[in-house]
Amino acid sequence: MSKSIGVLDSGIGGLTVVSALQKQLPGEDIVYFGDNKNCPYGNRSAEEILSLTMDMLDFMKSKDVKIVAIACNTISTLIDSYKDKYDFPIIDIISPTVDHIIKMDTYNVGIIGTEFTIKTGTYQKMLLEKNPDIRIIGEGSKSLAGLVDAGKFDDPETREVIQTHINNMMEKGDIYNLVLACTHYPIVEDVFLDIAPELKLINPAFQQAKAIREHLYQNNLLSNKEVGTLEIYSSGDTNVYTKVIEKLNLKNIKSINTVDPKKAAI
Ligand code: DGL
Repeated sequence: MSKSIGVLDSGIGGLTVVSALQKQLPGEDIVYFGDNKNCPYGNRSAEEILSLTMDMLDFMKSKDVKIVAIACNTISTLIDSYKDKYDFPIIDIISPTVDHIIKMDTYNVGIIGTEFTIKTGTYQKMLLEKNPDIRIIGEGSKSLAGLVDAGKFDDPETREVIQTHINNMMEKGDIYNLVLACTHYPIVEDVFLDIAPELKLINPAFQQAKAIREHLYQNNLLSNKEVGTLEIYSSGDTNVYTKVIEKLNLKNIKSINTVDPKKAAI
């Protein structure tokens, strides 16, 4: 029997990656962990984020997964600190997205993410290394991920925050493509599009799912089932999951559970 793919995130955002995986790899079983209790990660220190991430990775180890997708951009900026500590391969969300943007041959790119992600400059450095002519406008948000994690999808506050961020970026210069560099943001992609229909939005979830598919194919690890299942674990309230599952049209949910990753991993 083939093992599952593990997907982890600071909260519900990583379900955007699950959605892309279910489209690209419908036969795979997926184990999801969202650390809703400690979300948002984007306003925490690197030490805190690392410690919480290792708890989730230990949980994934206890589930005997064959690969882990770090859906969270914020956690992905720290990948070098934990990727070699586990037996399973760990795939970040930033590298495949950077490769995709480079292939698009575009020059004016906006990147909106958590304060942590933007401050690390990870996207900016990786893009400029591959194309020194690319023009990047980075915008960090303190509150957007938290609002989405609280289920405020179609909400005036969420709309206002997105509007302010888009205005900030536009004031700094022209952008044609906008990377939704936080997994929570594609959940409210419709609001972004409504406010700025001229922008081409880039959802990193598709690129990460492609990278996972490629890795599994190269290593002969693809499942041969027709239909895979989705097992959801959260450290916090699971009510919001019903709302996201419906919005993203996620399929074949086996169970939704609340767990403490520390206790569950033992
Ligand atoms: N989902 C996370 C990301 O992709 C951010 C949300 C948070 O701040 O916890 O960066």
